[in-house]
Amino acid sequence: MTVIDINTPKTRDQWKVSMNPDDIYRNPMSIAWSFKYLMSGDKVEDLYKRAKQNQWDADELLPWDTPVDPSKPLINDRSDIYHQMPFFKKLSKAQQETFTAHSTAQLLSQFLHGEQGALMTAACVTHSVPDATAKLYAATQTMDEARHVEVYARYCDKIALVYPMSLWLKALIDATLKSDRYEKVMIGMNMIVEGLALGAFNNMYRTTQCDLLKKITFNVMRDESRHVSFGHAYLGPVIAKLPEDEIEDLAEFAFQAVNILAHGGTAGTLASRVDPGFMQVLENSNIDPDDFFKGLEEAEAAGITQELPPGQIHSLKDLMLPALARVGLLTPTARKKYVEAGIPVDTDPRVLEAMEGGRPIAA
Ligand SMILES: [Fe+2]
Ligand SMILES: [Fe+2]
Repeated sequence: MTVIDINTPKTRDQWKVSMNPDDIYRNPMSIAWSFKYLMSGDKVEDLYKRAKQNQWDADELLPWDTPVDPSKPLINDRSDIYHQMPFFKKLSKAQQETFTAHSTAQLLSQFLHGEQGALMTAACVTHSVPDATAKLYAATQTMDEARHVEVYARYCDKIALVYPMSLWLKALIDATLKSDRYEKVMIGMNMIVEGLALGAFNNMYRTTQCDLLKKITFNVMRDESRHVSFGHAYLGPVIAKLPEDEIEDLAEFAFQAVNILAHGGTAGTLASRVDPGFMQVLENSNIDPDDFFKGLEEAEAAGITQELPPGQIHSLKDLMLPALARVGLLTPTARKKYVEAGIPVDTDPRVLEAMEGGRPIAA
């Protein structure tokens, strides 16, 4: 992955970074024609119709002339573990604001890179899924994801910062893109990455003070709710008809993907702490990494943990695991693995179902 120098603002030309050979690979996916062109008449057709009706043009819909000051925090959220740390509270207000501005830019960069991953997985489902209606739906998702790449790229251009893709996110999306079945692509993207994204978008929508970012996130989130619904509406019946060994293969794939996320993608976990992008956030905020991690350890020893305030969504617990349970991928064998890996299995579907309705939670 090419690491972009983020110490100085970037012009559009400077974004044109050279391609890393690791970013080009072949996948073993089969391609499927379908000549049964009549619509399926089920939930997937409904989603296709909703997608057609709800297309939007970022040029027309969003207030791009909104001034954005990249030196100021874009979010007003003091609930994360960093703001609870005694070490962090001792920093000057300016340093705290710089850290918040950079860590938000790092998060927005992950939205941007993740959207590119979603663009490629949606295109992959379009050519590999054997059902004609699902192909048409996946084409609409491909267009949605193109729009999402566009809007986050334009927003990152406004704040003149793009952080590199986090290693765990790249690993998760690469595992999805390198898989051998479209069902795995849908599990990796429509259930796991998009579950993660929907939770993160919802939290961004609730906490940002920037009107443009709020509007971007609201509209992206409405599209994403369809994408998560597609995972359920199409894959549920497909998985129900598979032989047991194939269901176990898919359940194992889902577990491995969740495991990458659970041990790399949560703020405060060891993997996310040593992520090169996060180290750059510290460097750009003039915070000594040794002091910072010592402060984090002291906070954890004092029992300060990352508790989400009411209304914030925990993607793994509220969105992903309920989605996997609903399509039958939390088999007894898989459940044992989640427990062994220290991942609590919670399958309450209420938050997931509310988000699939396309509305932010407690907004
Ligand atoms: Fe998206
Ligand atoms: Fe999506």
